[in-house]
Order: sequence, then C-alpha cells, then structure tokens
Amino acid sequence: MDKLIIKGGKPLKGEVRISGAKNAALPIMTASILSSGKNTIYNIPNLMDVKTMGRLLSNMGAKFDHKDGLVTIDSSSINNFEAPYDLVKTMRASVLVLCPLVARFGRARVSLPGGCAIGARPINLHLMGLEKMGAKIQLESGYVIAKATRLKGASIYFDTITVTGTENLMMAAALAKGTTILENAAREPEVVDLANCLISMGAKIRGAGDSVIEIEGVEKLKPIKNYEIIPDRIETGTFMAIAGITGGDLTLKDCRPEHLDAVVMKLKDTGVVFKETKKGLRVIGPKRLTAKDVKTIPYPGFPTDMQAQFMTMMTIANGTSVIKETVFENRFMHVAELKRMGADISIEGGTATIKGVNKLKGAPVMATDLRASASLVVAALCAEGETVIHRIYHLDRGYEKMDEKLRHVGADIERVTS
Ligand code: EPZ
Repeated sequence: MDKLIIKGGKPLKGEVRISGAKNAALPIMTASILSSGKNTIYNIPNLMDVKTMGRLLSNMGAKFDHKDGLVTIDSSSINNFEAPYDLVKTMRASVLVLCPLVARFGRARVSLPGGCAIGARPINLHLMGLEKMGAKIQLESGYVIAKATRLKGASIYFDTITVTGTENLMMAAALAKGTTILENAAREPEVVDLANCLISMGAKIRGAGDSVIEIEGVEKLKPIKNYEIIPDRIETGTFMAIAGITGGDLTLKDCRPEHLDAVVMKLKDTGVVFKETKKGLRVIGPKRLTAKDVKTIPYPGFPTDMQAQFMTMMTIANGTSVIKETVFENRFMHVAELKRMGADISIEGGTATIKGVNKLKGAPVMATDLRASASLVVAALCAEGETVIHRIYHLDRGYEKMDEKLRHVGADIERVTS
C-alpha cells in the first residue's frame, strides 16, 4: 500500500487548480442510466471513486471511458441491473444506481452498503421514498431487490436530511408518472448540480437548493451532452485549511467560494485572509490562528466533510476550540492520530475539545477514512519533522493528484509505493 512522507513546517505559496467535485461526479454519472445513448460529462476528476463508478456502470453493460476530465458513458447497452457487494462495499455512493435502474428498467438488485468507518449510514430513507413511489422492495441476503412497472409521483418527507437520498429520489422522480415533492431535501451544491444536469436531459425540476424540490415526471430523457460539473468545494476548503495552518499564501484557481460560505466565514474568524484576484481566490494564513468553535450541520451550514481539516487547524491555534459533529456518529477517527502528533484533544460523545499547542511533531500515522486522511496531510504540512501517512488509498478516493499539487506550492512531500 502507498504511503506519503511529508516534512512539514514550511509556509506553502503558489497556485493550486481545484478539480471537479467528487460528490457531483458520482450522482451525475449514475444519471446517465436514465437515458439511452452516449453521455458526455466534463471536469470529472481522476479519482478512485470515479474509477469504481466506471467499473460499476461497465459491469451493468454500459460503455465507459474517462480521459483528460471527459467521461463518456454509452448507456444504450445496459443489460444487467445489479450492483454487486464487492463494488458497493468499496464505495457507498454505488447506491445511487438504485433509483435510476428502477426508473428506467423497472428493476434493480443492489447490495446494501454495509457499515463504514464514520457511521452506520443506513439507506432506509432511499428505500422509504422508492416504496412511496410504488416500488416493491425486498431485502435478501444483503441485497435490496426493487421492482416497479412504472414509478408514480409521491410526496416524500425526509426525517433526516440526506444528500444521496435526495439525489436518488430526484432521479427516480424524473421518469415517474406524475409529480413528486421532496420535503426536507438536502440543499448541497452537488444536489443542485445534479438537478441542473437532469434538466439539461429534459427533466422538469423546480426548487433544487431549497428544502422543497418539485419534480414533474417525463416519459423519456435525452443523454447528457457536454455537461461540466462544479469544482470540489471540499478540496477547496482543504487547501484553505492548508494555507491557514502553514501561514501560507495560496491562490485557488477554478473554485467557487460561494459554495462554502460557512467555511470561509469561520476561517476568517480564525485570522485567515481571503482576496478575490483575477487568477482566483487568494488565501493567506496568519502567523498564528485564533481558536474558534464549530458545529457541523447540513448545507448551508459548516460541512461535516470539513470537520477533520478544521480540527487540525485548531490543534495549533491560540486558545481552546469546541467542535460538535452532528451529522455522523463516529467521525473523530482522526483524533487519535492527531494526538500522536502532539495535539491536545478530548472527546465527549459527539463533541471534541481542542486546546491549542505551540506545534505538532511529525510521526508515523494511519489514514482511516477519506477526510481523516486529508486532515493528517494538513497536520503533517505544519508539523515539525517528518510524518509518514500509511493507507493513503483513502486519500486517493477523493483528492486528485494531492501530492503533485502540494509539491507545486513548495511542500516537501514524497509518495512511496510499497
Ligand atoms: C453524502 O453522503 C456525501 N457523499 C458524504 O461525503 C457527506 O459526508 C454526506 O453526504 C453528508 O454531507 C456523497 O455525496 C457521495 P447522508 P450520504 O445521506 O448521502 C443519515 C465524503 O467525504 N441517513 O447525507 O451518504 C446518515 O446516517 C463523503 O466525500 C439515514 O439515517 O450522507 C447520516 O447520519 C463522506 N438514512 C445523515 O443521514 C438514510 O437513508 C446524513 O447522511 C440516509 C442517511
């Protein structure tokens, strides 16, 4: 397994290009199932999760290709309506093929995703919505078997705000007979990007980005033609954290700062300075960060996917920070590793208290999940001495060429394949 060797302590300076959003790429790739023909999608990052989704679609009979950011999917040859366990267990977002398959073909057999490092992450709300739309759902030896002659419009209320639940049911509704209302829907920019892509295919969707989304089903959808997905707001936030914690000066190109207002406002409170320039968003870290509290909530609140990276910033801030994680029940896997680097963090249920120390010290650490691994990179870049991060396949799932991008702005970082 590959590892990263990082010698920290240098302020990073220069330009970073932000890649396309992983969490927009995955649902939009599954939207290609809804049409029959050749779909073309631009700005798709070269990530492990994108490769896995490509394998899943090819496994279903689609023709998939990904070159220089352009993904082409010929969905006219899909003839297998199954998402097998060996693929789903490596990527939970595979569940996003469930509703498009039922909507277009009337059937699907999708492995239940099973547990995950950050929480149980059930899909009960996806299934509740599909049942309300008339699908017959059976659970059999770890698989969801869903059947429907034709889905029909329904009013669906989400007890918990769910991003992929909203996305899955929006896709189901796009081809259903009648109108569907999704209430307490997720408002993330990736949900809006999927809605815009579906509208470009001929779907009739109103309200994406608000808590109530109305979808009027149509008989047929056209293939996706040259749709360009949004940049990755979590990668953007991660590089903001890197500029902040190293006292650096980074210009982030091709990013959409308006997609992470809550993060920008919070980082400004800690002393990070932002400047819009012709080349992109300039982010300047202070000599020392000021400790601030954070509570993660669904969009437009502070995103759970930025919690670990922000916590790392707070480990060397001036003062004490209290971080509440309200979205997932076990998203503090990075804490033990940060403490091995000298951080002073205590946990009480979903609340972490971080007392700022003067500096972190390099150490061998292990990545456990995607954003925890990102937080270890952030920590290593400011720590004194050498850090070795093991199991960086977690990082490769969601960050395109992270080590190259960091080397380009002065980081002493080496990827070792073992
Ligand atoms: C999406 O996951 C993202 N993944 C996650 O990003 C992100 O952390 C999460 O939304 C929250 O923003 C993709 O978009 C591919 P949820 P998702 O359904 O949709 C509970 C990353 O790092 N819930 O919004 O799986 C669930 O347990 C990844 O890129 C139910 O109870 O998350 C959780 O507590 C990690 N029943 C809460 O809702 C359901 O049927 C939010 O989960 C569905 C969800």
